[in-house]
Amino acid sequence: MADAQELMRETISRIVPYSPGKSSAEVMEELGLDEVTKLASNENPLGPSPLAIDAMQNLASGVHVYPDPQAIELTEALADRLEVEPETIIVGRGSDEVIHMLGLAFVDEGSNLVFSDPPFALYPMTARVMGAEERSIHARDYRHNLEAMAEAVDDRTKLIFISNPYNPLGSIVTADEVDDLMATVPDTCIVVFDEAYYEYVDDPEYPDTLRYVREGARCITLRTFSKAWGLAGLRVGYGVAPVDIIEVLKQVREPFNVGIMAQAAAVASLRDPDQVPRSFENNVAGRQFMYEQFNEMGLEYVPTQANFIMVDTGMDSTRCFDALMRRGVTVRTGEIFGMPTWIRVTIGTPQQNGRFVAALREVLGQQD
Ligand SMILES: Cc1ncc(COP(=O)(O)O)c(C=O)c1O
Repeated sequence: MADAQELMRETISRIVPYSPGKSSAEVMEELGLDEVTKLASNENPLGPSPLAIDAMQNLASGVHVYPDPQAIELTEALADRLEVEPETIIVGRGSDEVIHMLGLAFVDEGSNLVFSDPPFALYPMTARVMGAEERSIHARDYRHNLEAMAEAVDDRTKLIFISNPYNPLGSIVTADEVDDLMATVPDTCIVVFDEAYYEYVDDPEYPDTLRYVREGARCITLRTFSKAWGLAGLRVGYGVAPVDIIEVLKQVREPFNVGIMAQAAAVASLRDPDQVPRSFENNVAGRQFMYEQFNEMGLEYVPTQANFIMVDTGMDSTRCFDALMRRGVTVRTGEIFGMPTWIRVTIGTPQQNGRFVAALREVLGQQD
């Protein structure tokens, strides 16, 4: 019998499966550790809102019914909060699923996608799944090079991805820079503002991209409940775009894409006025602590507007990763982002940050 590899679509062979890093349970078992500080996936160390937990507990015995296929309550709550029309919102199984829908709906062989290098993994994956060309543009000074990205756009470009804040680097592009981009990009291309870390930003130059949506520009803003809202394990995110784009996305959306628990927890979270400020403040304090420690250690880092920091350890990032893991702390290697001496670390609770810094100091001390 033919191997399934021989049956698969040719374009799929270019996909390198997403590497999630080891789970805490795997690391604990492998190394005989009692506890692991996971600072590898940019999750919220404070967890979900108590209102979300209540909502899920109340719903637990009702999960034998399918969820609302249109996620009406969640869509209306979001529309209220964002001051947009409900028709301009699509809810997904994480913003990942909205990216996937964008690929299914708009991208075909012969078209191309523009994004930065290093990219967020889903962008090249979308190109590969759909058999499109990848046009990746090197980051400049650890930021998106929007001018070069705009130059890479042609009449076959379907999507241009701007992760803002930029995962994995943590930098942002400003409102003026985005204005310039929007003035240049042709309306045959959809600009995707991927704002997964939106709630952590405090830079006043950060753009209000919903403004473009309200003006009917050819763009979509993606946000998620996975980060500041603390619901990564439930998988719920959304896109906000002019109605014509949302209508097309709905044509490829699975009918019951977002689970009943996910919808209810997201709605309940939106009613909690403390969830985002609490997460934001923990992040600002943790970011400051990390900066001070890195400065003391003489390490270069990229100032961040997200809940993670890229830092140059000066040693091979895979070795650094292993040494940190043996001390019970997991991070991401820079290797996977083409930055072989860097690591990306999520900002945790004060205790987690302390454990990470102590472990890193030990690892780097052993270098001398
Ligand atoms: C830039 C960026 N976009 C999108 C996502 C996807 O988030 P989710 O699918 O959990 O909403 C992430 C998650 O890490 C991200 O970093």
